[in-house]
Amino acid sequence: MELNEIYQGDTLELINQLDSNSVDLIVCDGPYGVTTNHWDKVTDIQTYNLNLIKIFSRVLKPGGALYLFGKDNCIDFIDYRPYLTLNRKIIWYQPSRLAQGRLNYTNNYDLIAYFTKGKAKTYNLDDIRVAQLVELEHRLRCEKVPSVTNGQYGKTKFNDDGKNPGDVWGDIKQLTYKSKELISRELLNTIQKPEKLIERIVKASSNEGDVVFDPFSGVGTTFAVCKKLKRNFIGFELNPDYIAITKERVHQIELEKEYSLFK
Ligand SMILES: C[S@@+](CC[C@H](N)C(=O)[O-])C[C@H]1O[C@@H](n2cnc3c(N)ncnc32)[C@H](O)[C@@H]1O
Repeated sequence: MELNEIYQGDTLELINQLDSNSVDLIVCDGPYGVTTNHWDKVTDIQTYNLNLIKIFSRVLKPGGALYLFGKDNCIDFIDYRPYLTLNRKIIWYQPSRLAQGRLNYTNNYDLIAYFTKGKAKTYNLDDIRVAQLVELEHRLRCEKVPSVTNGQYGKTKFNDDGKNPGDVWGDIKQLTYKSKELISRELLNTIQKPEKLIERIVKASSNEGDVVFDPFSGVGTTFAVCKKLKRNFIGFELNPDYIAITKERVHQIELEKEYSLFK
């Protein structure tokens, strides 16, 4: 398959055309099994996801990463261990989500399950550090007090470039009607993801020139981010209208790049 292309069709069929061990990173924002979209009507999302994990493990390079998006229970009670290693369950916390539950605590996060094929080959922490929100006084106190890591006494060290973003991502907001990057209102919530969210993943788990695969590419947020960050991209998408939107989106980024070269 060609790099920097989006193929129209069903991922479960197209995937057979993708070479084994050919992809560095998979950003998988597919069915959640909760909306009324026809493609989201999956009866058993866990079994569906287990199949994805299995077929994606073939195309990932050793050490490559898969980020699988879903609801809080999207990988419950399935055994993914023969295929991939689960490194972390990342919580994308959305405090602004309407909390109308009356019988139970309202769910206000998406789960992003971060897998790798064996040990991760890429984790660019320095590219994804976030501000360390610690008062100077507290920081100085911490740096004086010895902390114990692996049985060794050492000084707590703060990195001036910021800290690891951790596994609860509350700093990246969902898109709203007012977001500049929102392409159209119908895409809000169930389709278009914020570029910042995808950017963190692409920066952390790939390098320039790497191949990033998005099996449910929607309106092309991953493709747009890859263009900006100089990664190669392969995408699959059922909806031809979304593919047309993606191509226009990527074209605009190319034009902006050319324009900035001439400035
Ligand atoms: C949640 S959206 C992805 C949105 C994307 N992350 C973005 O920011 O634009 C899921 C997409 O997967 C597509 N899709 C669902 N099932 C599919 C399948 N079996 N094969 C290919 N595409 C599929 C849908 O048409 C939809 O655009």
